[in-house]
This record gives sequence, structure tokens and C-alpha cells, in this order.
Amino acid sequence: MYKLIAFDAYGTLFDVYSMGTLAEEIFPGQGQALSLMWRDRQIEYTRLVTLSDPSPNGSKHYLPFWDLTARSLRYVCKRMGLSLSQQNEKRLMDQYAKLTGFEDSLTVLKTIKEKGVLTAILSNGSREMLSTVVDSNGLSPYLDKVVTIEDVRLFKTAPQAYELLLKAFAVNKDEILFVSSNAWDALAAKWFGFDVFWVNRLGHPFEEIGVQPDYEGSSLSQVLQFI
Ligand code: LAC
Repeated sequence: MYKLIAFDAYGTLFDVYSMGTLAEEIFPGQGQALSLMWRDRQIEYTRLVTLSDPSPNGSKHYLPFWDLTARSLRYVCKRMGLSLSQQNEKRLMDQYAKLTGFEDSLTVLKTIKEKGVLTAILSNGSREMLSTVVDSNGLSPYLDKVVTIEDVRLFKTAPQAYELLLKAFAVNKDEILFVSSNAWDALAAKWFGFDVFWVNRLGHPFEEIGVQPDYEGSSLSQVLQFI
């Protein structure tokens, strides 16, 4: 049905909230709140950078996602009144670099590839961090391309970011299924014109603006019905 299945990375293939366990070890009683706020601030920074200069040549405020991730961690610790030592920042960022994949990430990519369908990641992540996390999870053999917004220096949800998939593959918009667990990402991809599968692991409501995703499931494995 689809020629290319493209996945968001953080939160979709890799479990960003698993950071909560290490954060809890470092800041007992605060790990969960820290990991939620960290993720929100990280995404907020991507929007701030992109919206403040959405120029076709990329935002002049651009910083790689890796830097935004570190800076949002620092911000959130300050905001929560937690003292973040250099050593603990390094521990958290080292773990972020090698985030664990969800249990079905590898099998899903492998199965799609075995059926001869193209696979890709389209992520806000910088090239180096994506390459590290993909390799540490053993996913490289099952991905045709890892596409990063680094090439346009505008983060999702800028349309230029989604357009990178059309530049990377000789496929039409309607031959792509975009998979994301982030409702905002799923909505923006749908607005861009992709068919979208929203992985809703936590049973959250979808966004209250825009259109509904084409498909929704509680696990990544449910994507396999489309190949
Ligand atoms: C990604 C983040 C935003 O693009 O989930 O991988």
C-alpha cells in the first residue's frame, strides 16, 4: 500500500521517558516530573528557534537538537531548584545519546524491510546523535535513510522539515505513511499531506485542533497491517 514508511525518532522508536529512571536516581522524587518538563522544554526550544526565523535558508537561531536537549535539561533543573553537577549532566546526556528503543522498534523495521517497503527516520535530531542512537539499538540494517532536519535548520513542524522526505526518496506524498507517537508531529505531518499513523501508547487524547490522524494504535507493531 505504501512505498515508504517514515518514523519519527524520539518518543516513537526511542523511549525518551526512560530518562525518568536515571533522573529519579539522581534527584529522588523528581525524576518523573523532570523528564516530562525536560521533553516539553526541548520541543519548546525547537519551536522558538524555528518560528523566530522561519527563513528558507534555515533559522539564524538554529542550534543542533543535541545542544537544545542539554540546554533544556539545564533550564528545567534550575526551574525545579535542582543542582545539576557537570558529572550528572554528563550521565543524563550519555544515556540520552543511547536511549533504549521500544521493545518492538527493531522487529517492526525488520519486518517492513523484509516486505520490500522503504523505511526511514525523519527527526529533529542532529546527525551525530541519530547515528549513535540508531547504531546502539542495532537499527541501521533496517533503515534505508536517516533524514535529519539539520539539512534545513528548521525543526518540525516546519513544512520544510517534512518535505525532506520527498527530497530523499523518489516517492510521491501519497505513497508515504508517517509514523509518530507525538500527536503534534502526527498532526503537522497530516497537515503537510502525509497519511499518518499515530502511536498512542498512553491512551492520550489527540490534539484539539486540526484533523484526526488516518490511523491510531497503541503500539508500533500495529503499523505492520499496512505492509
Ligand atoms: C524527533 C522528535 C521531535 O523528531 O521526536 O525525533
